[in-house]
Amino acid sequence: MYGAVPLAQIKGKLLQLKEAGQLDKVKMLLLTNCTFDGLVYNVERIMEEILAIKPDMIFLWDEAWFAFAGFNYTYKQRTGMYVANKLHEKYKSKSYREAYEHHIEKMENGQIPTMPDPDLVRIRVYATQSTHKTLSSFRQGSMIHIWDEDFQRKTENTFLEAYMTHTSTSPNYQMLASLDVGRRQVQFEGFELVERSIEIAMILRARINDTPQLSKYFDVLTVHDFIPDQFRQTGLKEYYDKKSGWNRMEEAWEKDEFVLDPTKLTLHIGRTGLDGDTFKNKYLMDKFHIQINKTSRNSVLFLTNIGTTNGSVTYLTNALLKIADELDAKVDALDQREKTIHRNRINSLTVNVPPLPDFSYFHPSFKVIPGVPGGNLRAAFFLAYDENNYEYIPLVECLPEMKKGKVLVASSFVIPYPPGFPVLVPGQVVSEEIIEFLLALDVSEIHGYRADLGLRVFKDSVLNRQKTKTSIGAMTNIKKTKSIINV
Ligand SMILES: Cc1ncc(COP(=O)(O)O)c(C=O)c1O
Repeated sequence: MYGAVPLAQIKGKLLQLKEAGQLDKVKMLLLTNCTFDGLVYNVERIMEEILAIKPDMIFLWDEAWFAFAGFNYTYKQRTGMYVANKLHEKYKSKSYREAYEHHIEKMENGQIPTMPDPDLVRIRVYATQSTHKTLSSFRQGSMIHIWDEDFQRKTENTFLEAYMTHTSTSPNYQMLASLDVGRRQVQFEGFELVERSIEIAMILRARINDTPQLSKYFDVLTVHDFIPDQFRQTGLKEYYDKKSGWNRMEEAWEKDEFVLDPTKLTLHIGRTGLDGDTFKNKYLMDKFHIQINKTSRNSVLFLTNIGTTNGSVTYLTNALLKIADELDAKVDALDQREKTIHRNRINSLTVNVPPLPDFSYFHPSFKVIPGVPGGNLRAAFFLAYDENNYEYIPLVECLPEMKKGKVLVASSFVIPYPPGFPVLVPGQVVSEEIIEFLLALDVSEIHGYRADLGLRVFKDSVLNRQKTKTSIGAMTNIKKTKSIINV
């Protein structure tokens, strides 16, 4: 999904599940930390407060973009492995037990504990890191880090079996050797290399902000642009500004619910009048051989890492300057009518941006228990294996059909690219907001949607059949739950 998930939302869902007697079904929480564009969770707070609700929760941190974080103290505090170790030590201590007892004593009726019970808590943490993305190794070289108190007892056999199932019997020694070299490199000089990549990111931010010809067309988005105020308890708005230079980030990284990794630079390009894909292909790639991976309608993402040099930053800023000069010349040559078109285009990229739609809800046919979060996405996905179960509705006809009372339920994932996050998943009810977003989108690729056929939705007859089946299933489930509670 796009963005990151606030702790209150995760806890809210878990408490709803607890209320319905379904909490035991939740085995693992998977979060991406940090996200591609640099949103970083407060790992310690999340693990503590979730373990207070479910003391044996397994955490899987997708640290694909965060392997370097272990080699800088500020970053390290927000990694799965560091926090697992810290919490393990903490919960064993006498002082924690006393603090916990005090916390429980002080709790008012109906209040939910925010500290885990030291007698029940288990530290079970996994982190997957794409070493090749932010450290050194051949492409595909990645690692799974494990800090699981119950690994041998509960996981080892199935874990190894799954691993063997997905790997080859002929290991790629080149890749393994490259991982070993990458590990050795950061063991010896990781601190310095990571420090330098952060410094280079700060320099790049400063250059773009402080060069009028660049800031005319480009903005590097700041912490404040990405993270709403209520999730920045320290109030830090940006790492760099003209007056105070580089703000210190340590305090924010210690306290805020979300922070932004400064090595991920999102460049807002709306004022160029170009969309992200055109900017990436026709300008950065064709003219300057600069390859980037992530774009949105109005932004492109640059990353600095331990391989970034001062020379590469200079090359990039020079390229941006040349693009800015070229845009100046192009705009100068436009006649009055073309200027209006250009201004409208800029407006559509800066002001009239279609808001990203939120997840709506699962259709009752795919809900396990009414009123309880979660849906049977798997059932919906496989139901669509049979082509008789779905039909296509042209996108422009969706809203009129919905106004007439028809409920549209997606039978596939629908993923506009960029940015590559699903706006619909199988079994999800299509909302007006989602259709409006899809109609307003001008990206050329929408995975799971073919403009010539229309939106693929389940036929009504299938939905009704499903509903009868699942509600019986749901009733049995409720009965089971109740009897367990009675016992
Ligand atoms: C958040 C996230 N997780 C996992 C992956 C997959 O990583 P890998 O390509 O190393 O398998 C990616 C790839 O881009 C990613 O962005």
